[in-house]
Amino acid sequence: MCGIFGIVTKQEEELGKLLTAAGHRLSYRGYDSVGIATINEKGEIDLRKDAGKVSAVAEKYHFEEMTGKRGILQLRWATFGEPSLVNSQPHLDSEGLMVGAHNGNVVNNTQLRQEFINEGMTVRSSNDGESCVHAVERFINQGDSMLDAIRKAYNILEGDYAFVIGKASEDRLYAFKKGSGLVAGIGEDFTCISSDLPSILPLTREIVFLNDGEIVEFSANEVKLFRVLDGVEVTRPSETVIETMEVAQKGGYEHFMLKEIHEQPKVAEELLHLYDNLSDMHQILQKLSDARNIYFIGCGTSYHACISGAVFFNRLAKKAVFPVAAPQFIAQYGQSISKEDVGIFVSQSGETKDVLNAVEIAKNQGMKTICLVNVVGTTLTKITDHWLPLGCGYEISVPATKTFTNQLVAFLYLAYRLAGIELDDIRKLPAAMETVIQQSEVMIPEIIPFVNPWQDLYSLGYGLTYPIALEGALKLKEITYAHCEGMLSTEFKHGPLAAVTKNYPVLFSTVKEDIPIIISGINEVTCRGGFAIAIGPDDNRLNSNANHLIVCDFPQPEIASILQTIPLQLLSYHMAVARGFDPDFPRNLSKTLTVD
Ligand code: AGP
Repeated sequence: MCGIFGIVTKQEEELGKLLTAAGHRLSYRGYDSVGIATINEKGEIDLRKDAGKVSAVAEKYHFEEMTGKRGILQLRWATFGEPSLVNSQPHLDSEGLMVGAHNGNVVNNTQLRQEFINEGMTVRSSNDGESCVHAVERFINQGDSMLDAIRKAYNILEGDYAFVIGKASEDRLYAFKKGSGLVAGIGEDFTCISSDLPSILPLTREIVFLNDGEIVEFSANEVKLFRVLDGVEVTRPSETVIETMEVAQKGGYEHFMLKEIHEQPKVAEELLHLYDNLSDMHQILQKLSDARNIYFIGCGTSYHACISGAVFFNRLAKKAVFPVAAPQFIAQYGQSISKEDVGIFVSQSGETKDVLNAVEIAKNQGMKTICLVNVVGTTLTKITDHWLPLGCGYEISVPATKTFTNQLVAFLYLAYRLAGIELDDIRKLPAAMETVIQQSEVMIPEIIPFVNPWQDLYSLGYGLTYPIALEGALKLKEITYAHCEGMLSTEFKHGPLAAVTKNYPVLFSTVKEDIPIIISGINEVTCRGGFAIAIGPDDNRLNSNANHLIVCDFPQPEIASILQTIPLQLLSYHMAVARGFDPDFPRNLSKTLTVD
């Protein structure tokens, strides 16, 4: 997803280098183009940009030469206009007197673009970031100050985005957020803004969190906030953020994904300690216990966690939960929820637009809202009643791994507490994860030759392992580019079985109690020549019926289901690497999806 970064310094600095580094830090979000604009002491704008990766574009256009006292970096993930030099950001106004960039989507771009052309402005691209700049230009042309022009632009630019802009003749930059994340940082002799907190932390820990409807004006020594509504200044002290970025290094692993898979035992253990001492925990449990209906809402991997959570709540706490993909929540339950209901909104990034939309509807209906979010200080943590942290630190790799397993740990913890079950078993999970990682690292390479030749396969599960199978299929699709469909094992015979030919690979995840029903599915595949790979307990029934068994087990079935995630993560990782793909940055995908 697009990212923006802006900085104002006291002295002329080598901003090209600084902004390139910021670009690398934002690149985990996913992008296809990159650009930097710097403004020097004389008010000259230097703009360099193109489609391509940060390193390649930086090298081609010598970003390292760029100096100035103000600078804007933008990473673009194409929505309006194909990835190209002209559609790359930042953009200039008609006369080259202002430069700006945005992330997110301006949904009335097409109409505004035509209006700006009709008004005689020079419109160079079809990108909506350019419309943001021309929107400000329109009001500057009408005689407004920069602040007033931006306030008016805020009102005509529809959609969810964040925007940064500077005028060459001034000594400051301006930015605002409207539905997208944006934070400001204050350092010694500089201030900055960014789409996310992690990209600022190597520069400063003094952070000002921004709200929609506010414009930030930042100069070398101060950050000022103004209300869009009436231009009145808002006072908000900065907060000192104590997280560090050390974790955002590969630490000897070949990829972030592998490192993050191996971090799962540690972050699971930390989450359990965190929840034991969480001040909100009692209130959250009370709300869940009193709820008329409970909904778990998320997208992608986080949605799969919602399904697991619903199974845990049913089995342990005897509580029915509606797990639902966030956009469908509005269609299915938007009119039926009330203040007696509780929703847990699940998101690694805390910025997923589909989830934010669902929260808005929930709040309008008076529903009680809790979020389960990893990234500190994000929109979701601010707009819900309670924040359940995921405690994973930074997850850089686009495919979610440790955040998924910690989402399951979080749901399991809540289910145990609601049920009044002793937490002894769950405390054994981190050590069991460590064992499964070690065993899977040995066993997974053995099955790669049977799976890797195929561009098409299935991942099946039942009951507790149904959501795990869905998640395994998503991981495989995401980073190996094979089509892998996740499905309830019993549904396979209702149609997809037709896909099975000689050696066709089908993955079966199971816990002990479901072995008999999984074996039926395995046999339906093997008797038609397919290749069945079971992931489950070291059990004779699996051993003798499946073509291959990846052993993964734990006496307590809910915990066993969480462990089943790990072999599927490692299978997708090793397959992606074997295919020559970078698992951390899969094509077309983004870590943070701030668009509808
Ligand atoms: C997971 O590997 C994917 N990157 C994706 O499905 C992700 O889970 C989804 O976009 C939701 O993101 P969120 O958890 O940040 O809301």
